Amino acid sequence: MRYIANRSSGKQGHAIAAACARLGASVTLVSGPTALSDPAGVEVVHIESAAEMLEACTAALPADIAVCAAAVSDWRADKAAAAKIKKKGGAAPALALVENPDILATLSAGNQRPALVVGFAAETEALIANGQGKLKSKGCDWIVANDVSGDVMGGDDNTVHLITAGGIEDWPRMSKEAVAARLADCIAAHFAS
Ligand code: CTP
Repeated sequence: MRYIANRSSGKQGHAIAAACARLGASVTLVSGPTALSDPAGVEVVHIESAAEMLEACTAALPADIAVCAAAVSDWRADKAAAAKIKKKGGAAPALALVENPDILATLSAGNQRPALVVGFAAETEALIANGQGKLKSKGCDWIVANDVSGDVMGGDDNTVHLITAGGIEDWPRMSKEAVAARLADCIAAHFAS
């Protein structure tokens, strides 16, 4: 009946799946709840929790490429109430949280690691430094860093920085479809070389 969420729309992940499929990739899109329809030419696995997302991503292996664009919740409620929690004397109930699995880090460290693992970094400060930190801590190959303090979550446009071991590319503000197309081109070029 109640949940805590962010305003992630799924637009960026759906656009990346569609762009990779247009370039000829065989794509499995693992998607949380979204108002978007399934992209054409893509196998879609619908999930509702981080644990289900990890299971679906692992089941999709082996794969040459993993792109983790989901705004996965870092935490989940330790216990879900079986029945509605009634107000008792007006005191707010303590909400105990436990950490969710990190899907990107798990895929990066797994024994079926895709040859190219791409993560995102959603930041509100120190965008590049935090993005570079995530490149290392998650064990992935590229990070697409975006500042989410504006209207990115749920919006149609994005301004991203592609962080790799070779350096940083600053991309201008563009639609999420254009970000997806450019990222898919970078992936294709990476494998072509
Ligand atoms: N991610 C993930 N599983 C999680 C949390 C994040 O796979 N439980 C992935 C996201 O899909 C993204 C990357 O990790 O590719 C970075 O996510 P982000 O939300 O920017 O950072 P967090 O890992 O949540 O770290 P922090 O909240 O400390 O910034």
